[in-house]
Amino acid sequence: MTDLLAPQTVVTQRQARIRHFLMCRPDHFDVTYSINPWMEPEKPTSNELAIAQWEQLHTLLVSLGHHVQTIDPAPGLPDMVFAANGATVVDDKALVARFRHPERDGESQHYVDWFRAQGFTEVRQAEWDNEGEGDYLTTRQGILAGNGFRSDPRSQAEAEALFGRPVIGLSLVDPRFYHLDTALAVLDEDEVMYYPEAFTPESRRLLRTLFPDAVIADEADAVVFGLNAVSDGYNVILPEAATGLAAKLRARGFRTHGVDLSELLKAGGSAKCCTLELRH
Ligand code: ARG
Repeated sequence: MTDLLAPQTVVTQRQARIRHFLMCRPDHFDVTYSINPWMEPEKPTSNELAIAQWEQLHTLLVSLGHHVQTIDPAPGLPDMVFAANGATVVDDKALVARFRHPERDGESQHYVDWFRAQGFTEVRQAEWDNEGEGDYLTTRQGILAGNGFRSDPRSQAEAEALFGRPVIGLSLVDPRFYHLDTALAVLDEDEVMYYPEAFTPESRRLLRTLFPDAVIADEADAVVFGLNAVSDGYNVILPEAATGLAAKLRARGFRTHGVDLSELLKAGGSAKCCTLELRH
């Protein structure tokens, strides 16, 4: 007879929720400048490989039932593939990025135009440096906002006023994890995974209080960008090299999908960086 109450048979029923994403094909992908420690312009890159890897991610998201729209890539903007940085979209309001580095400045207008053309009525470019979903991640507790390398802490009040949700600042300290989405991923509204060492002691304490049950990543998984993951509440798409993290997620009832985005990692980005969630 099966003992239904055996303690080790705790099964969490996870539920995928259909998402709406915006992506940008890496037609003009290249590493021509260095604005994070991963970018080495002297190393060769392959545009074809970047496109092929990106197509796999796109196909996977569509096959999981998600709606994926694309924005036209613009020549001369090699980082535009990282659509997550283009804006933060909550309740149909788009707060378009203001990039810290002039190299990416030109991307903002493309996003403003795209959102307007799609009929979004509330579209505004951030007043302070704000790198969209690279640093702004929505949870039930509030919008987590990374700072320390890219987004200006002053951009938090602006986001709070526009979205009418609490914004919780988190300070990053390791230059390898310069955006919040390289150090933390939202798995399901109030469940996250993160690499504690990427944060100041104070932010670590805050994360422990907010998410006592979080999945904790180790350095080996963080450096292969395992935290740059996309989750729909059940399916988690993450770099295939993050095997330790994938095992932890499966043990929690998630289904993991490893992807190879090695070409994009040369610019310091992976799965999450390529997908901007359009929250209706
Ligand atoms: N080369 C880009 C930059 O440094 C990579 C952006 C990655 N995007 C992200 N959401 N983390 O800005």
